[in-house]
Amino acid sequence: MQLLDGLLVSKTIKQELTEKVAIRKSLGKKVPHLAAIIVGNDGASMTYVASKVKSCEEVGYDSTLIQLPSETTEAELLQKIHHLNQDDAVDGYIVQLPLPKHINEHKVLMAVDYRKDVDGFHPENVGRMALGLPCFLPATPAGILELLKRYNIETEGKNCVVVGRSHIVGMPMGLLMQRNDYPGNATVTVVHSKTKDIEKICSQADILIVAIGKPLMITKEMVKPGAVVVDVGITRIEDSTKNSGFRLAGDVDFQQVADQVSFITPVPGGVGPMTIASLLVNTFIAVERKDV
Ligand code: GUN
Repeated sequence: MQLLDGLLVSKTIKQELTEKVAIRKSLGKKVPHLAAIIVGNDGASMTYVASKVKSCEEVGYDSTLIQLPSETTEAELLQKIHHLNQDDAVDGYIVQLPLPKHINEHKVLMAVDYRKDVDGFHPENVGRMALGLPCFLPATPAGILELLKRYNIETEGKNCVVVGRSHIVGMPMGLLMQRNDYPGNATVTVVHSKTKDIEKICSQADILIVAIGKPLMITKEMVKPGAVVVDVGITRIEDSTKNSGFRLAGDVDFQQVADQVSFITPVPGGVGPMTIASLLVNTFIAVERKDV
């Protein structure tokens, strides 16, 4: 078994970006600027956004964190979005999800200028992705593709099973793994809550990508010997042996399956850091597109 070390690869990508930012600076070009909006004070979301902002600092980007109270109205949030769309200093921005229930997520994502949509959630970018046209790829699937690429994982002709059909991960992941490119050209099956016999389908996967948000759901019997396993899940579960009383678990039972797979992402330190690295890459693409 070999680890798909997302933390290590993300550090390499950040180093590459740091060098590219320095070159831009030396040429008198604009430094990339990422903004993030977070509404409310959900602990996990605040942690994710904080690490996105911190990563910007590490690579020499400018960043802006916009924290809005949970009572923020949809109209107020849309107002902020219109402001960011017009602000030439900001090259790309994200609206951290989930949003409070009183705000229509679809309406908000539609309001983001697709040229600044570095999360790749706007229908313009989703449509372009589906058609294989230039676009911002959503950060988590893009990070997974990059990880597979940097470990030279073969994907052509492989059976790829994606567990979960979320708009953020499962749906785009399925599309990207079946496109005519590398990584891609896989035979993709997307399974979800209504799928019959998930266990059997998973056990036939050469590449198993799990993004369902159910800790430890994927057990030994569901993994083909020699499979490549990518675990997107990251959930706090109780663990009395830890001082904090909890630990982070993936959707895959790592302990059970580790000795029978060829490659596997750890949790934490697998997909999470790659997501952030991809967001930084997208922001770099956003600023470069403005050069021409
Ligand atoms: N919530 C969970 N993942 C993501 C992500 O990639 N982007 C945003 N904006 N929100 C998220």
